[in-house]
Amino acid sequence: MFVGSAVIFAGVVALLLVGVLRRRGEDTPPKGSPGYRFVAVLGLIVPAVILVLLFILSIDAIPATSPSSSNHGLTVDVVARQFFWDVSYPGRGIRSANEIHIPVGVPVNVRVTSGDVIHSLWVPALNRKVDVIPGRTNVVTFDANRAGRFRGQCAEFCGPEHAEMALYVIAQPRASFNAWLADESHPNTIPTSAELERGQQIFLGSDCEYCHTIAGTNASGTIGPDLTHIGSRTSLAAGTVPNTPGDLAGWIIDPQHIKPGNKMPGTSLDGSQLQALVAYLESLR
Ligand code: CUA
Repeated sequence: MFVGSAVIFAGVVALLLVGVLRRRGEDTPPKGSPGYRFVAVLGLIVPAVILVLLFILSIDAIPATSPSSSNHGLTVDVVARQFFWDVSYPGRGIRSANEIHIPVGVPVNVRVTSGDVIHSLWVPALNRKVDVIPGRTNVVTFDANRAGRFRGQCAEFCGPEHAEMALYVIAQPRASFNAWLADESHPNTIPTSAELERGQQIFLGSDCEYCHTIAGTNASGTIGPDLTHIGSRTSLAAGTVPNTPGDLAGWIIDPQHIKPGNKMPGTSLDGSQLQALVAYLESLR
């Protein structure tokens, strides 16, 4: 593709230069003159032939970006929602949002589908785009050769907050990935202080629990992201803001200001209630 494009680009530039150097006044050539045939051949027929040839050549390369068959049994399910990515690890009881942890050096098959409109999942550092379509499951393989946090982005317009629909893939060495798996597979949601207990009561006593799940509590809503381990995530609102206590407080009070059109309504908590709620959520690690 690159060589083909380079040759064509050089040819076009050369023809432009010839045109500039052999310029003969402002007159357009008369109809039926050799100039017209030249344009028809080089402008239509040659490009059509070249594009077909390049397509045929690239058919061979497509399988190289396809899901691998030897994935060491690690599969991640991603369900795109209009305003976030719902992430789960089948058979391991792990559910997260907007963040996919993978081990370095292991190809991980990511199965993607959509719960509402069409999206497209794209983590440029790890693989090509994959369409995310309701009622259909597509698979893309993420194979990180070094540890790091790789940003992904929804690559198909999906509504007012399409641009704020990012996610992060966090590639970790095997040992720390295993530690993450072990930690995520059980909820650490029992408050360990009076302040955190108050925060949990505020959460469970408000509307939050109708949309969000916190494993180990009565909160089991599925409209919004699972919050069981929200304290361990690096961003909020699908990569819109970093996960800091201040940003979380701002998000809870007025999510429509940060991400207009999303499904989360604002709340009217006083300062100390908000502080307790934020402390509790950030403690969910
Ligand atoms: Cu989801 Cu664009």
